[in-house]
Amino acid sequence: MTEPLRTRLQAAEDGEDAGSNPSRNATFGDVVATRFDRRDLLRGLLGVGAIAAVVTPRALAAGPAAAAQGQATPFPFTEIEAGSDAHHHVAEGHDADILIRWGDPVLPGAPAFDPLNQSAAAQARQFGYNNDFVGYFPMPGAADPAAHGLLVVNHEYTNEELMFPGLGRQDIKTVAFKGMNRDLVDIEMAAHGGSVIEVKRNDGKWAVVPGSRYARRITVETPMALSGPAAGSDRLKTTDDPSGRAVKGMINNCAGGTTPWGTWLTCEENINYYFSGTLAEGSAEATNHKRLGLPGNAYAWGRFHERFDLSKEPNEPNRFGWVVEIAPFDPASVPTKRTAMGRFKHEGAAGIVSKSGRYVVYQGDDERFDYVYKFVTDAAVDLADRAANRDILDSGTLHVARFDADGRGAWMPLVFGQGPLTPENGFTAQADVLIEARRASDLLGATKMDRPEDVEANPKTGKVYVMLTNNGKRKAGDVNAANPRPDNRFGHIVELTPDDGDHAASGFAWEILVKCGDPSIAAVGATFSSATTKDGWFGMPDNCSVDGQGRLWVATDGNSPSKTGRNDGIWAMETEGQGRGTGKHFFRVPNGAEMCGPYFTPGDTTFFVAVQHPGEADEEDPKAMPATFEAPSTRWPDFIDGMPPRPAIVAITRRGGGRVGS
Ligand code: FEO
Ligand code: CA
Ligand code: CA
Repeated sequence: MTEPLRTRLQAAEDGEDAGSNPSRNATFGDVVATRFDRRDLLRGLLGVGAIAAVVTPRALAAGPAAAAQGQATPFPFTEIEAGSDAHHHVAEGHDADILIRWGDPVLPGAPAFDPLNQSAAAQARQFGYNNDFVGYFPMPGAADPAAHGLLVVNHEYTNEELMFPGLGRQDIKTVAFKGMNRDLVDIEMAAHGGSVIEVKRNDGKWAVVPGSRYARRITVETPMALSGPAAGSDRLKTTDDPSGRAVKGMINNCAGGTTPWGTWLTCEENINYYFSGTLAEGSAEATNHKRLGLPGNAYAWGRFHERFDLSKEPNEPNRFGWVVEIAPFDPASVPTKRTAMGRFKHEGAAGIVSKSGRYVVYQGDDERFDYVYKFVTDAAVDLADRAANRDILDSGTLHVARFDADGRGAWMPLVFGQGPLTPENGFTAQADVLIEARRASDLLGATKMDRPEDVEANPKTGKVYVMLTNNGKRKAGDVNAANPRPDNRFGHIVELTPDDGDHAASGFAWEILVKCGDPSIAAVGATFSSATTKDGWFGMPDNCSVDGQGRLWVATDGNSPSKTGRNDGIWAMETEGQGRGTGKHFFRVPNGAEMCGPYFTPGDTTFFVAVQHPGEADEEDPKAMPATFEAPSTRWPDFIDGMPPRPAIVAITRRGGGRVGS
């Protein structure tokens, strides 16, 4: 390479997409928490800096970790070895079978996958690229609800260098998308969005039901509605849609959630990537677009589709960055962008019913120094009548989190007219507050976090887990109590305890469950329990899942041979009792991949996971080859010469039946 790679990943890592938060909330060095001073003191007194592990305060109080004392672990499976190779690996006694791959048929009439003869029309009927969130809905009336249902899958983004022959990386300054043409862009657009497939388990093995009446592909062209307080706002109107209520498609759908009324919440994350062009001088959207890193210039779509060119359609980006609700059992239904839930780079939308019956959706905004949110519906969920909840997500209150140094926290409502959210600050209606949720949160003094990814509640304990994946840009003077590490390369997990056990409450207590990274290197400051093995620690927590027994499972994004000496995967994470803070390695992805979508079926008999972008190069390794269609870092899962690597869903089951991870 004569020119250093400037890839999408690196642009995001370097914060060049300027979503970087300009406000001054909670970055002052003097809030370095007294709590953490105490913790560090505790560690110092015990001299653990000198030994191979550091432990959480609760584990210290409890003495040696449970596993070390031979006590029962909630995760009795045999741990796999951390490492990297071209294959996936799962804990002994389990099967990890490929369910569906990029290019496999979804809709009737889909042609067989032919990587040398791709077309947008074929792709729009086939399984899309880069599967991320996975959700499972039991088929009503199924004899075994854990063996027959619908699987919904997000297709987050595309890797042109791995998808198309002879193209190579296009998002590099010296290339500047020269190799892209309209046909390739249209294939990319059809490979985004989501899939609904019907799946059935026979004789222990899962398969896609061909020709299912529920099968659906959602792409960047699928007609969708905008609903809630921002729908119809002038700021959502475009040449194509003078109503501000109808939009084509969804993009960069990362994680998501499933609701108790049977719908799929799918979350638009890095929407800035798809826009290019220059905003007209003096545009009213200049500040708004800058705060979301627009234009991101990471794809060539604006060259062939005017709506992705800011000089032509300055309002089009305001129609993306939302949570989209889809009814998977009704393939004719119009997906709906629920604007009441706010606009930012949504990671996921995992919900739980509050004490008073309202639906509470926790949400991370995945950008360095951005925020943790929750949305609380006005109405109570009607669990007896699914249809009654059809528009429940249109009315409610979005809140943003402030983490105080004393271990307390507050959920601050984003409501037009309250506090600084007034015309003096450029907000003329609730629509403005929602479209510019980030700027509204800046003004409220929300706490700047280390890239909030999945946020999930544990229904068994009432605790809430926030994955903070990493933040290499945080300086020593910028730390705060909830984000205490400068140059936080490996991330951490924060645990919230809602006041009165009520997820709708405005206050909470919090503490750090674990600071991630290699605990054998004292300077990293990782806090896995001392029972954690050399395989059991991880960096960069991203997605997570709480199983039916209330056990936490963490999926990672960013581990690699050069960064942590291991590929990404799934780690079990103890949260209770003496083993709290113990990680245990359960599943490992093939080279170049990230781990997404972990989702359990009822009874935890199947764990669906998504292997995203297998075959990428280890970008941190200067010796790594530039991964391409011709030379990927793995040809998983087919391992056929000439066949590119294919993102795929993997079904993990316990051999002989029973709960996964037992
Ligand atoms: Fe799409 Fe924040 O990962
Ligand atoms: Ca993610
Ligand atoms: Ca990710």
